[in-house]
Amino acid sequence: MSAAAIYPGSFDPLTYGHLDIIGRAVGLFPRLVVAVVSNPSKQPMFSADERVGMLEAEIAQLGDGIEVTAFDGLLVDLCAQRGIGTLVKGLRGAGDLEVELRMAQTNRQIGAVETVFLATSPERSHLASSFVREIARLGGRLDHAVPPAVERALRERAGS
Ligand code: PNS
Repeated sequence: MSAAAIYPGSFDPLTYGHLDIIGRAVGLFPRLVVAVVSNPSKQPMFSADERVGMLEAEIAQLGDGIEVTAFDGLLVDLCAQRGIGTLVKGLRGAGDLEVELRMAQTNRQIGAVETVFLATSPERSHLASSFVREIARLGGRLDHAVPPAVERALRERAGS
């Protein structure tokens, strides 16, 4: 296993599903870079800086081997800049596999970057940031899905 990996995503917002993967990835890789894709074209609920801040607050207890960064552009370029050749992705089920397999093949082809998949813990496999945003807008329960500070930020943003 290589010494470092990048865990990329939109994290709009981060969920307990992301934290599940992060917590397990830090046990596998001495250095983990959590890369927040700013992707303004997706019209995110939270700015890249807000998403980075939420992640930093939640991973503070995980030690020195982990950092959070925002980036715009191709993941393979971030990998090259950082000298990191491994991506970590979580797989919730067959729907993810379909998309993730093709992204992994593409990233290997255009950047010689390998992807390591971690199976999401079953109790987290239904979580999705898109559901979380919708539930926040419509005023439903979120305590199963996101940490309390993220829930507060969602309620404030969604006005729910
Ligand atoms: O959390 P998400 O939205 O499922 O993450 C998707 C993400 C950020 C991993 C994907 O959109 C991505 O890799 N974006 C960076 C641009 C890039 O490298 N595109 C080529 C992928 S094959």
